[in-house]
Amino acid sequence: MLTVGRLAVENMTEGCVTDSVHPLFTFNLDSDCQDDRMESATLKVNSWVGNPGDDMSIRYGGPDLKPFTSYNLDLNVRDTLGQSAFAVAQFETGRMGTPWQAKWITDGTYRFHEKKVSPSPMVFRRVCSLKEGKVIRARLYTTALGIYDFTINGKEVSDRYFAPGFTSYASKLQYQTYDVTNLLAGGGQKEITAVVAGGWAVGSFSFTRKNRISADRQALLAELRIEFEDGTSQIIGTDKDWSVTLNGPCRMADLYDGETYDARIDLSESQMGPDWHPAAIEKPKIHPLLVADYGSPVRPHEVLKPISVSRLSSNELVYDMGQNFAGVVRLTIDGKEGQIIKVRHSEILNPDGSLNTRFLRTAKATLTYICRQGRQVYSPRFTYMGFRYVSVSGISAGRIQVEGLALYSDMPVTGDFSCSEPRLNRLQSNIVWGAKSNLMDIPTDCPQRDERMGWTGDIAVFAPTACYNFDMSRFLDKWLKDVADEQARTGGIPNTVPAQGFGFPDTMPTMAVDWWGDACVLVPWAEYQARGNIDLLERMYPVMQRYVRACRFWAGLWGIGKRRYIWHTPAVVHFGDWVAPDLPKMSQWQARSPWTATASLNNTSRTLAKVARELGKDREAQEYDLLADKVADAYISVFTDGRGHLKKEFQTAYVLPLYLHMFKGEERKEAAARLAELVKENGYRIGTGFPGTPYILFALADNGQVDAAYRMLLNDTCPSWLYEVKMGATTIWERWDGLDESGQCPIGDDGTDLMISYNHYASGAVGDFLYRRVLGIEMIDPGYRTFRFKPIIHSSLNWAKGHVQTPYGTISASWKVEDSLLAVRVHVPIGTRCRLELQGGQTQDLCPGDHQVNQTINLGTRQEEDKN
Ligand code: BGC
Repeated sequence: MLTVGRLAVENMTEGCVTDSVHPLFTFNLDSDCQDDRMESATLKVNSWVGNPGDDMSIRYGGPDLKPFTSYNLDLNVRDTLGQSAFAVAQFETGRMGTPWQAKWITDGTYRFHEKKVSPSPMVFRRVCSLKEGKVIRARLYTTALGIYDFTINGKEVSDRYFAPGFTSYASKLQYQTYDVTNLLAGGGQKEITAVVAGGWAVGSFSFTRKNRISADRQALLAELRIEFEDGTSQIIGTDKDWSVTLNGPCRMADLYDGETYDARIDLSESQMGPDWHPAAIEKPKIHPLLVADYGSPVRPHEVLKPISVSRLSSNELVYDMGQNFAGVVRLTIDGKEGQIIKVRHSEILNPDGSLNTRFLRTAKATLTYICRQGRQVYSPRFTYMGFRYVSVSGISAGRIQVEGLALYSDMPVTGDFSCSEPRLNRLQSNIVWGAKSNLMDIPTDCPQRDERMGWTGDIAVFAPTACYNFDMSRFLDKWLKDVADEQARTGGIPNTVPAQGFGFPDTMPTMAVDWWGDACVLVPWAEYQARGNIDLLERMYPVMQRYVRACRFWAGLWGIGKRRYIWHTPAVVHFGDWVAPDLPKMSQWQARSPWTATASLNNTSRTLAKVARELGKDREAQEYDLLADKVADAYISVFTDGRGHLKKEFQTAYVLPLYLHMFKGEERKEAAARLAELVKENGYRIGTGFPGTPYILFALADNGQVDAAYRMLLNDTCPSWLYEVKMGATTIWERWDGLDESGQCPIGDDGTDLMISYNHYASGAVGDFLYRRVLGIEMIDPGYRTFRFKPIIHSSLNWAKGHVQTPYGTISASWKVEDSLLAVRVHVPIGTRCRLELQGGQTQDLCPGDHQVNQTINLGTRQEEDKN
């Protein structure tokens, strides 16, 4: 039978509200028949009918869509076997530029001058009488400078956190649309309340704790549009008729420091009491474009229950949530009026079982809750923490229940991986939790200390792995708009996006920084490979061009001859082999930047050539290829002896030219053999920093060193991926040596100012290898239109299996070795083709449907072959 697997508007299967004039429609199909293919498809919106060809995606191309309107999308598909399938989806247009019948409002009495902290949360309120009649449709359009939480008659309008989300506020600010029809049912008096905390726009942000970056104080903009059954309508917008107070129950809210909440304060009891005063009209200092939400909202996902609780001599209760994650606690309390409960959070414990909060640096990550009488539930709305352990004081264990809510952006799960080695399965889980903890509206470095910033280098290396595990399309699409908006005129990309007050390197904010700035090339490329969205490439192409031009400029500034292609700007503005565990000091990681930066220039120019080719710009593609060739030639001539050996040897210096195909012929074999030797001399332990880690196993396995690659992957001595697993990690650490065998942090002053996080996804970039080589599923054409199934079999594993959800449907793949018999199974989705590559070079082309192929193999011989 033929069925529609997924029908989406702007990559959302439901609830899409868009300002796009040509929204994107995508779908995929499922069938249980062999060799089923799509013959035709039509998509209809009112009078418009679109035929997507065999692409399974098309943009709306009909008459202008009207603002504030709900539309139905009908999909009809026929296949080559004469079957048909049908699906419908709804979407809605947003304001589409309609002027707001509302004004920005604030608390005009609030003078917020204190440094390094966040402002007091503002509470806005309007009590209004609805017109007579039945409400048939009501929408709340709203945004804020700060982060907001809306209620109508005490009921939350949404379960999302941190709206309006984090964007480059100076250029774009999202507004959200909520269907509040049910909340307004019954008419009569309604009390609309919005709490606005500082968030990223006004609150303290980055480790400098700068505040008031985008606004001097919070402001709210909201418009409620109500339609009645009799055809009339009512609009209620924010204006001077709203009231405001700084004396709500949420006394303090800061992304890093936590929240203070006084549950005794009940605003509904003090209707127009002394605290309320009229809101003032605000003139924001920035003038961003207000756009219907186009990202992936942060919501609560998993609910975690503690796996143990212990009581310290101080009477503090310490809960172990069993998982390091980003989110908040939910407390169910049997409290006494005025009782004060303190909740702290940390990723690790001290030897005495108390919380080790040292590495949170200035982030207090503390909740102070003042109880009212009786049973009450509290969970903060304006902060989040990265933690596994929670300490609670001020209440006995019998009177409180602690749960954890994992908060992260909504991203459909698109992949899973497992194999016969349980420790690798734990690693996969750690990678996924690392991602969940750091995909918090923007891609962050870590969720716990006073950073949580959009560090570009981290997502540059992690994007391919993220795209295997999640549908990142909306999330990355949003973030990449900020990358484009924040690109300097000179082509440089800020090291954190949104930069939001953080200009590092301050002295030369316009400079290109290798691997970090490369995000503007590598992230869209990873997303394109996974989902085949050519529009994204088209949009990012000029940004990539400007960036590569800037890199080329900085590389060429110092040096003559071939050295014009060796990029060695002063190390202080580059990160080099960031966190390489074979060197103890930050300055030493940075000193490797001539190698990492030169390889980066080769990588970005080569990738840009591929992008240009995809866009049909062949002449430009040739130019970028030529640049990449010159850089490769310079790397090999300057850094190697011409026979495949680096003059100065370290793992990353081999990994990058091998992975990026800079070595030719025998030299390549020689270099791979030498890397394998280095790895062996190092006890198969990792020696790479951010730029080398994602690629080291590919550099080995794809160049005949499968055995070394697997030994390194499966090694559990420090530093290695499985060392972290052995030490009980449930996420990926920032520093390979973050804990010693006794479970304590051995890192002293290495120049990074206690930069030690236990939840950084960057080194989890090895997930790409798990999918592409261990499981063996890899795209050949963007979006997996054709894909390869080529597992690299090694005696240390006897099976692996997984799924990869492509835009066309889900690939399921598995392999198993039993008594020298390799059995592979694969489901090939409609619209795709699979190239199965077995051991010894046999290949088969597989059509859509289910396939099983067996092959007799000799693992011993296979490993011998690798070594030669
Ligand atoms: C962050 C990293 C980031 C780095 C660059 C750190 O503080 O946590 O992940 O990429 O700085 O210097």
